[in-house]
Amino acid sequence: MRFRLFIASLLLMGSFGLAYSLSDRLPETVPTNQEVTAEDPFTLMMNVLTHKRCVNCHPNGDRPRQGEDSHYHNFGVVRGPDNHGLEGLTCNTCHQSENDDFSGVPGAPEWSLAPIEMYWEGLSRTEIAHSMLDPERNGGRNLKELVKHLTEHELVLWAWEPGVNSEGIPREPPPVSKEKYIEAVKAWAEAGAVVPAE
Ligand code: HEC
Ligand code: HEC
Repeated sequence: MRFRLFIASLLLMGSFGLAYSLSDRLPETVPTNQEVTAEDPFTLMMNVLTHKRCVNCHPNGDRPRQGEDSHYHNFGVVRGPDNHGLEGLTCNTCHQSENDDFSGVPGAPEWSLAPIEMYWEGLSRTEIAHSMLDPERNGGRNLKELVKHLTEHELVLWAWEPGVNSEGIPREPPPVSKEKYIEAVKAWAEAGAVVPAE
């Protein structure tokens, strides 16, 4: 009896494993999700970068934005001299290194506002891409360093585990899965980081 259970659980685990690895490896052209798979790496990548989970923290101005409607951050929070807020009300007064799903305060290591030269709010996809590739505006990164930031930085990856807001409602993740997005960023960079014309 025990042995059968063991076999059954092995089979179950096996089929999950198989389903996972298959769906993980589906080529971009197989339409599992019509909305995103028909698109090229640049579009997939920009579907993420233009999402509010990123743009709320890359605003054009001195105030972070919040929520699905990107309203100005509550409590009059502003950028401050070093993007970490004003003395006495710095970001890490409230934001910790992990989400606090009890209070609804999102968290990740180094939580702070993207410097003003890295603003994306209000830019077109093409403009964001040019900004991101410009060492004057991207923190002096070369392409390799940019790809590393885009695919590994904890503030970026937070977008796929955004926690719940202060009303307990889950925040919406970007419209492309993390795995697909990472693949798309790498494919775009490897193909020469071409930015399409407007
Ligand atoms: C909590 C705020 C926050 C969130 C959320 C956030 N960023 Fe950033 N981002 C920053 C900060 C701060 C920097 C500057 C860090 C540095 O230069 O090392 C930055 C820098 C960057 C840079 C390098 C500079 C540039 O403009 O090229 C990229 C690329 C980037 N973020 C992408 C993203 C993407 C993609 C998302 C969403 C999936 C995202 N960020 C979400 C705060 C955030
Ligand atoms: C007084 C506490 C407090 C301080 C200080 C604070 N925040 Fe927040 N922040 C919150 C709370 C609470 C939320 C969640 C609100 C909600 O979603 O209901 C939040 C949400 C956010 C979000 C929204 C995430 C999203 O995509 O919806 C961003 C971005 C953000 N804060 C950035 C910052 C930055 C950058 C600083 C420092 C310059 C900062 N916050 C300072 C309490 C604070």
